[in-house]
Amino acid sequence: MTIETEPGLWLLTTPSSAYAVRLGPDGAPRCAHWGPRLTLGQARALPAGPEELPVEGGGRFGVAGLQVRYGDAVRGVEWRHVGHDIEGDDVDGGHLTIRMADRHYPLEIDLHYLVRPDSDAVGRWTTLRNTGDGPITVLRCDSAAWAVPRREDYRLTHVTGEWGAEFQVRRTALAVAETVLTSRRGHSGYHANPWVMLDAGDATEDRGEVWSAALAWSGSWRITVERDHDGRAGWSGGFGHEGVTWRLGPGESLETPAFTGIYSAEGFGGVSHRWHDHVRRHVLPAPGRVRPVVYNSWEATEFDISQDQQMELAELAAGIGVELFVMDDGWFGGRAGAFAGRTGETAGLGDWWPNPDRFPDGLTPLIDHVKRLGMAFGLWVEPESVNPDSELYRTHPEWVLRQPNRRATEIRDQLLLDFSRDDVAEWAYDRLDELVAHNDIAFLKWDMNRPITEAGDEVWVPYIRNVYAVMDRLRAAHPHLTIEGCASGGGRADLGMLARTEQIWTSDNTDAAQRIAIQHGYGQVYPACTMGAWVTDSPNALTGRPTPLAFRFHVAMSGALGIGGDLLRWSPADLEQAKRLVEQYKLIRPVVHEGRMDRLADWAVQYTLDPHVVVFSWRPTTLVRVTAPVRLKGLDPDGVYRDEDTGKTHHGTLLMSHGLPRPWPFDATSELKRLTRVG
Ligand code: GLA
Repeated sequence: MTIETEPGLWLLTTPSSAYAVRLGPDGAPRCAHWGPRLTLGQARALPAGPEELPVEGGGRFGVAGLQVRYGDAVRGVEWRHVGHDIEGDDVDGGHLTIRMADRHYPLEIDLHYLVRPDSDAVGRWTTLRNTGDGPITVLRCDSAAWAVPRREDYRLTHVTGEWGAEFQVRRTALAVAETVLTSRRGHSGYHANPWVMLDAGDATEDRGEVWSAALAWSGSWRITVERDHDGRAGWSGGFGHEGVTWRLGPGESLETPAFTGIYSAEGFGGVSHRWHDHVRRHVLPAPGRVRPVVYNSWEATEFDISQDQQMELAELAAGIGVELFVMDDGWFGGRAGAFAGRTGETAGLGDWWPNPDRFPDGLTPLIDHVKRLGMAFGLWVEPESVNPDSELYRTHPEWVLRQPNRRATEIRDQLLLDFSRDDVAEWAYDRLDELVAHNDIAFLKWDMNRPITEAGDEVWVPYIRNVYAVMDRLRAAHPHLTIEGCASGGGRADLGMLARTEQIWTSDNTDAAQRIAIQHGYGQVYPACTMGAWVTDSPNALTGRPTPLAFRFHVAMSGALGIGGDLLRWSPADLEQAKRLVEQYKLIRPVVHEGRMDRLADWAVQYTLDPHVVVFSWRPTTLVRVTAPVRLKGLDPDGVYRDEDTGKTHHGTLLMSHGLPRPWPFDATSELKRLTRVG
């Protein structure tokens, strides 16, 4: 049974964890357990712990996940239990709703829990309902609070970064304080990412308890991690940043996004395995869809594009085995003889038609050419943005997000459309639907290159919901469409986006050496099949670092491989080597994308889809460094594994205890090992 209950107690069970809620003596729903599996009888012995959604009022002095103000200026909630509903079954999983209300005011609060028989994730969210006849002001409504059992010490793991350096893992002692992880930028952010992990300071990659949660929201968010003077730790999190309020009118309700938690007793690696499985099975919109090898023209051409040059690139891309050709920014806008359109950053965003100077006969000649070469075609769009120098802005200046008497902030010479307006969302849907329907487009890269500003109170949430709605409608109307999410690289990577996209453009930094750390952080929660990774030119355009082609490939092949270099400048030998590596990638793609990922070291990662094993080892510097043999994980100790390139066989137990022989001669910078269990 995934959900069991008796009066005042609910027990949720997943394959390797359990979560128990108990009504406290004060009537508040409280966490009794989040950890290893329990029986209902065992859960009965546990006292009620911290609140499931801490409210304001009474003797509470910590972080409030729910803050409301009623019409008479009274604040806070006094809990009253109303009942519960359980839907679902053991096959599909169960949805528990604990129905609560305020003891006096007309506010109903539903706490939702979702568990599935094949996932260790516990999905949680909240619905508020105003059942009165006056408005209620919602000052804060988190999705859920998660409490970690009492331990002597706590450690916080999260990611931070910046443009070009997303997903940098930080693991630090948790201060006796409130630590706020947040984005106020209207996207989930590259300076932070909406997930959190806590451990007792004793977890390793393979062992120890780790508690984690990730928010399915692509706008502003806040997770407040609290360690109090009493030695308790946990966090409360949800959409919106502090100070943004919401008016809940009579009869209206507000539903938060899900804040999903995963517990693992098998260390940080164990928690990542569970996240990857969960995202692949239950978050992605088309589980199991093969990610094509993409060519993207951005780094090669930037804004300087033409039909002939794109055709030439497409020929070279097809020659090395690319499956889908994506034309990036610069293809649209403009009116012949009137204005130039998108030939640089300053103009054209919003005008989603082929630039007549660059594509006088539309996109069809290029698309036909790409298809004749055996590839599918994709296009870059940034539907939420508009340049002041565009026909869209000249026609609809009132569609732009701005506040009366305030300047409209321009970032990268662009403004944002007010996507919270249904007419704007409708326009965006129509433009994209027309593009996709009339041009045989299999792939859209949906970019968002600036944060939200001048949004007032009630734009932040409907804006993101309308982005979701447009994506959902497009996918429903074009079931074979693949979407890549992007916000100047990995600025909008989260479970909300991953529910509507096949992959995320991980970072604008394509320097393979720096990419290792970026991918390491991305992969803590999100699986490799969603991690867009291109092989670009050497020296790297952003960092100037020269790297060998095989090294660049070996780094990108550990995600969803793409090619992003200027193939017109690659030598015949480079193209030949690239072709061989793409062939190799296609062989290992199911293992990398569907297999279990194990981090072996900072510089080595393993993917296992029995009987296949793939190991990448990288040595990003040219310094001679003596490294211990890399020890593999999770193999059959009695199994025998054959090296697919040398034919040599190895015992599983020795690969795990002694490791692969030193992975490279000193002059090599990376290696790909392919093993198959043969006995
Ligand atoms: C963003 C993206 C890049 C590229 C450019 C185009 O920076 O992250 O990959 O698409 O926009 O302007």
